[in-house]
Amino acid sequence: MAGRVEAGRYETFDQDVLVIGAGGAGLRAAIAAAASGLSVTLVCKSLLGKAHTVMAEGGIAAALGNVDPKDNWQVHFADTSRGGQMINDYRMVEIFAKEAPDRVYELERWGGLFDRTDDGRILQRPFGAHTYRRLCHVGDRTGLELIRTLQDRAVHSGITVHMEVTVTRLLKDAERIAGAVGYRREDGRFLLFRAKAVVLATGGWGKVYKVTSNSWECTGDGCAMAYEAGAELMDMEMVQFHPTGMVWPPGVRGILVTEAVRGEGGILRNAKGERFMERYDPKKLDLSSRDVVSRSIYKEVQAGRGSPHGGAFLDITHRGAEFIKKKLPSMYEQFRSLADIDITKSPMEVAPTVHYVMGGVRVEAGTGASSVPGLFAAGEVAAGLHGANRLGGNSLSDLLVFGRRAGEHAAAYVKGLRMTPRVDERQADEERALLLRPFEGDGRESPFALHEELQEVMGACAGIARTGAQLAEGLAKIEALQQRAERLRVAGSLLFNPGWHACRDVHFMLTLCEAIFRSAIERRESRGAHWRLDFPDPDPSWGAKNLVVSRDGEAMRVATRPVPQMPAELTALVKA
Ligand code: FUM
Repeated sequence: MAGRVEAGRYETFDQDVLVIGAGGAGLRAAIAAAASGLSVTLVCKSLLGKAHTVMAEGGIAAALGNVDPKDNWQVHFADTSRGGQMINDYRMVEIFAKEAPDRVYELERWGGLFDRTDDGRILQRPFGAHTYRRLCHVGDRTGLELIRTLQDRAVHSGITVHMEVTVTRLLKDAERIAGAVGYRREDGRFLLFRAKAVVLATGGWGKVYKVTSNSWECTGDGCAMAYEAGAELMDMEMVQFHPTGMVWPPGVRGILVTEAVRGEGGILRNAKGERFMERYDPKKLDLSSRDVVSRSIYKEVQAGRGSPHGGAFLDITHRGAEFIKKKLPSMYEQFRSLADIDITKSPMEVAPTVHYVMGGVRVEAGTGASSVPGLFAAGEVAAGLHGANRLGGNSLSDLLVFGRRAGEHAAAYVKGLRMTPRVDERQADEERALLLRPFEGDGRESPFALHEELQEVMGACAGIARTGAQLAEGLAKIEALQQRAERLRVAGSLLFNPGWHACRDVHFMLTLCEAIFRSAIERRESRGAHWRLDFPDPDPSWGAKNLVVSRDGEAMRVATRPVPQMPAELTALVKA
C-alpha cells in the first residue's frame, strides 16, 4: 500500500490497529484483529518470517494428553506456577493452560505440521519441569513451522505488511494511543502510522548481552517505547539463561542448542564425566527447570569441573544416528556445519546463553491491555505469565494464546471508541529530530562501541549469579553510558545505514539495562532466574512480590507489589 507523503516529511498510513512485530505473537494478533473486520497493519524490523520465535525449536507446550493421558490444564497450571516461583500472574497462567490446546489444534487446522503418534495424533515430548510429555513438535523446527503457518494465514487475512521498518515512538492523543512513528531501514524514509490501537509484539532484548541466542532485532524497542509512553513494566530483573548454547568455536558462542536434545534423552556431564545434575536435582536431572540447570553448569565451572571452553558436555550419542537425525535434524546439521562435530558420535560442548526475558510490559491478564489506553502487548514483550522462570515450550503457546487475545481486545477497544484519536505531529517531529541528532553536533561516540560496552557491563554485573555490589557497579556504569549516548555520532546518509540504526537501539537498550539493574537491586532475595549470591534464598518475610517499573518525569521508579492472592482452588492445584 502506497502511503501519502505529507510536506515531504512523512509517508503516512491510516489503519485501525497497528501491530508492531511479526513473530508468533504479532502474527496471531494481526490475524485476530483482522477477523474483527478492521484494517490492520503489521510492521516488522526484519523480513517477514525472520523472528526469534523460530528459536523455540523443541515444541509448543499444551496439555493435550496425547502421550500421557493424565495430563490436563490443571497440571500445566501447577507446573508453570511452580516454575515461575509463584510470582506469575495466576489469571494469565489459568487462561494459558486452559486455552493452549485449542490454539494448537487451530494451528493444525491452519496447516501446521507436527510429528505424530503411531495412531496419528500430535506427538508430545518431555521438556524441563513439565510433569508429563507435553511438547507438540515437529523435529527440532517447531518455531519455524509455527511462523510458517501463521504467516500463511496472516497474508491471506487482508492485512498490510511493512517489512524492514523500525518503529521508534508511540504517539498519543492526551493519554490514549494515536499511532506510531519510525523509519524505513532501506532508505531512511520517515513513516507515520495513524492507529486507534497498537499491539506491541516486539519480543525481548537478549542483545543487551553478548552471549545470547537472540539475533540483531532483539533490542527491546517495544518495551522501551512502551515505557517512554508511560506504560508500566514488571519483573525486569528476570532474564532467562537457557542452559545450553554452543560455546565453540568463538564465532558461534550463544547459538541455541535446543532443550529437545535433553527431552530426547541427552545427558549433561562435566569434565570428569560425572552426570552432575544428580547433585543438583536428583529427581528431574537434566530435565530440571532452566534456572536450575544453568546454575548447575555455572557451579560446575566454578568448581573447576567445566569443559575446555567453560561449559559442560551434552551427550546424546547413545540414542543412535538414525534416531538423532530424525528427531534433531537441525542440531545435527548445526554442529556439523558450524563446529565440525558429528553429534551422533561425539558430545556437544554447551554453556548457558541468554535466551528470553520474563519481564516486560505489565498487562491485564485477559486482554493484554497495558496501563496506556489503546496500547496492548503480547508474547515475550509482555510480563506476567512466566513469573521468575519460564518453562521451555511455554513461549510458543503463550504467543498463540495471548497474541490472539491482544488482537481481539485491541479490535474491541477500537470498536468502542467514540472519537478517533488525533495525531499531534509535533510528537512525530520531536522523534524525527531525535533520530537525526547523531548526524549533527560535535559528538564523538560510536553506537557500536557503546553497544559492546553495555553488553560487557551486563555480562559482568547482571549475569547468572549477581551480588548487590556488582549490581550497583553495573547501574553506575549504565548511567555513565547513558550520558555518553547523548553524544552519539554517525557518518553517511539515511540510506541503509546500520550505524544510524544502532543509535536509537542503544538508547532503548540502555533504558532496559537500567530497569534490569534497578529491579535486580531491589529484589533482595533469590528467586527463579534471579540468583543473588548475597541473598541466596527466596525471602519468605518479603513474600511473593512483583517489581513494577514506571517513569516519573525523567526518573525511573521501581515499586514492589504483592502478587495477588491465588484463589483456594488454584492454590490446591499447585500444592497437589
Ligand atoms: O530449547 C528450545 O527448544 C527452546 C524452547 C523455548 O524456548 O521454548
